[in-house]
Amino acid sequence: MSHNRTSKLPVDDFALDRASRYPRVLRAHLASEEELWGWIVAACRNVDERGRNRDIPDIKVRFFVCPEARDARYEGAGLAHAPAEFLPRESDVSLAAYTERMMRLLDGQRFGLVVNGLQLVDFAFCERVRDFIFDYQSLNGIRATPAVIAFLGNYDRTAFGAHADQQCADVFQFVISGRKRMRLWSGPQVEANPALERALSQRPSDYMPESWASVTIDGNPGELLYWPGEAWHVGEAIDEEPHMCVSVSLVPPFLTLDALLEAAVDHVLRNTIAVCFPQDAAPHPVGGISDPIVDETCARAIGALDEELYARVRQQWLCASTSLGMKHPRRSPDDVLRAGDCISSDSRLLQCCPDGSELLVVSVGVALRCSAGMKGLLDDLRTERAWIVDELVARHAVEHEAKAIEVLLDELHSTGSIRKITADRADGVASTGPKRA
Ligand SMILES: [Fe+2]
Repeated sequence: MSHNRTSKLPVDDFALDRASRYPRVLRAHLASEEELWGWIVAACRNVDERGRNRDIPDIKVRFFVCPEARDARYEGAGLAHAPAEFLPRESDVSLAAYTERMMRLLDGQRFGLVVNGLQLVDFAFCERVRDFIFDYQSLNGIRATPAVIAFLGNYDRTAFGAHADQQCADVFQFVISGRKRMRLWSGPQVEANPALERALSQRPSDYMPESWASVTIDGNPGELLYWPGEAWHVGEAIDEEPHMCVSVSLVPPFLTLDALLEAAVDHVLRNTIAVCFPQDAAPHPVGGISDPIVDETCARAIGALDEELYARVRQQWLCASTSLGMKHPRRSPDDVLRAGDCISSDSRLLQCCPDGSELLVVSVGVALRCSAGMKGLLDDLRTERAWIVDELVARHAVEHEAKAIEVLLDELHSTGSIRKITADRADGVASTGPKRA
């Protein structure tokens, strides 16, 4: 059932067959110019001197210029040491007005702004990006961590110059305002030509002598540029006009086994040390260490780790499959669930499995644990039918405390796996839904 899913983005010819990976321009609408401008201003609000957003630390802002001569305010590549003074603010009103202010401030030098983690500023924006990535991942499997980055400016080339992003799988860039050009060198072509690779990596900003080997793709508002992740690339503005883009890069792997292993070892040592290393197995200082003690200790430790690691890897996969590996914002704290609200879930975003005596519930990448008896509630939600909050609570409150159910529903709503639906949408669905308690 899909009645409550947001509609997919209008993306034409969205043939993300990974066997035919070549740079191309597709049509796709992600956001209006006004929307993107508002999100960028929000991301730049309360940013510290180094460009980190104080409220949302996963948002990072970089500002660069392409100076004619060495300028102490910028690093060699043109990145501002302290971007805060150059950032867009509400009083700038629009991209055009901000560009004018910057050009005055910078004595006419062209500039660029890069915002990492932009999806974290707005719940609805994050949902749109997620819908787009669902299309990709339903064809290609969950195999990548999406990084959502906004680019803005009138630069003739980005400060980083030509480069290849490490381990990037695929890159999509939505052109929202102005025009944008990407210059690309194919990965296999660069790999096969050491002189070309040397030239690009040693002089990333002075890449035009190597333009003979490049192709360019240009995008207008409402278009989507695609290039394979291993391609060397550089972004260029066209005609000195400012532009705004949103880029979605897919970077495998999202599953970091080393971190999971470290956490599992830590947990086993801290919490189950008595089981792994029983006192009576401890060697005596004068007796040496016998093989049976080593064998016994290893066997116990590996057994405990095995279980612990299995649980952590399973949780990681559930988190990845419900969040698509992307960090999500929470709904606004003002948007609370009320008893009379009509709700429905998206089963793609809500999964659960037994975890010992508890139930592991994963909602859009957030793992929660609750009583195993909540399985019935989760089963009801995962039917994607419409429910009235207080009726759903009453239906399951026979076995569980109503308060615990309300808290769980609130968390699922806040993370985004259940949403409020309007009464008229609910009517048609509720008639086919289960009987109310
Ligand atoms: Fe890049």
